[in-house]
Amino acid sequence: MEIRTVGVVGAGQMGNGIAHVFALSGFDVVLNDISTDALDKAVSLIDRNIERQVSRGKVSAEDKATAMGRIRTTTKLPDLGPCDLIIEAATERETIKQAIFEDLLPHIQPHTILTSNTSSISITRLASRTDRPERFMGFHFMNPVPVMQLVELIRGIATDEPTYKTLLGVVEKLGKTAASAEDFPAFIVNRILMPMINEAVYTLYEGVGSVRSIDQSLKLGANHPMGPLELADFIGLDTCLAIMNVLHDGLADTKYRPCPLLVKYVEAGWLGRKTERGFYDYRGEEPVPTR
Ligand code: CAA
Repeated sequence: MEIRTVGVVGAGQMGNGIAHVFALSGFDVVLNDISTDALDKAVSLIDRNIERQVSRGKVSAEDKATAMGRIRTTTKLPDLGPCDLIIEAATERETIKQAIFEDLLPHIQPHTILTSNTSSISITRLASRTDRPERFMGFHFMNPVPVMQLVELIRGIATDEPTYKTLLGVVEKLGKTAASAEDFPAFIVNRILMPMINEAVYTLYEGVGSVRSIDQSLKLGANHPMGPLELADFIGLDTCLAIMNVLHDGLADTKYRPCPLLVKYVEAGWLGRKTERGFYDYRGEEPVPTR
């Protein structure tokens, strides 16, 4: 099946990155959000991020203009009706995702493939609430989407082979690499990455190291591009906590217990870069540890 028009629901950090890479790869994109302000911010961020690729000689100015021209924005879900593929990239909360799919169903075409960019929620369960579990998949991009090579493809129990093959072709057209994961809590990347981040927060909580020494240790001692606390701020502490809760509830093993300090930061509304405070304070010229 040929995918031409792609709908992206949610214009946050994942949604805008997804719209960016699809538009640059020749797909028509309809970007949806409930907030006009979020849509405006997403389009100007996509413009800035593609400009960064132009200035580094990775994209031509002409390709940038064509890609920007392929992105339409809307606050109305029914406008996604003509899309061949829809990628839900809203907040990592199951009730929100379910409500979006329910609202979409009356407007989409019989052949439309539905996907979720969820980083941890059961694809089988999300699919079962739609009229097309066989054309439903997990389509998990990594942040920052334009830079990260990997896309996780997660088949629910009912996903059919043509849907999987179609998405493999889409990943290839994006110039990215697919890794297939079974539909178990947090799939592959977050099953491994989040317990490491959670352990870094325990290391801070127990006073084994400071924010700077923990991050420096993993950067210089394990060659990670970012330290685990810096990475947690980058991903969003609310997202990290939501994923740990999915692991804890779904696998019922105490090794996935979210660190109380992570819970406290989220309760404080210190969610990382997006709120300008998390393990670091981003309000000044340079990030400074908050404890
Ligand atoms: N759009 C386009 N290009 C971007 C970009 C964006 N949003 N962000 C960065 N870049 C480009 C830069 O232009 C630069 O390009 P060149 O190589 O051509 O110079 C390159 O990426 C590197 O960027 P910087 O020089 O600004 O910074 P850096 O070298 O420190 O790298 C980073 C930044 C790529 C984010 C790097 O720190 C990194 O890889 N960090 C780890 C990211 C990671 O682990 N992501 C996964 C998170 S987990 C996840 O996403 C799953 C989940 O469900 C939670």
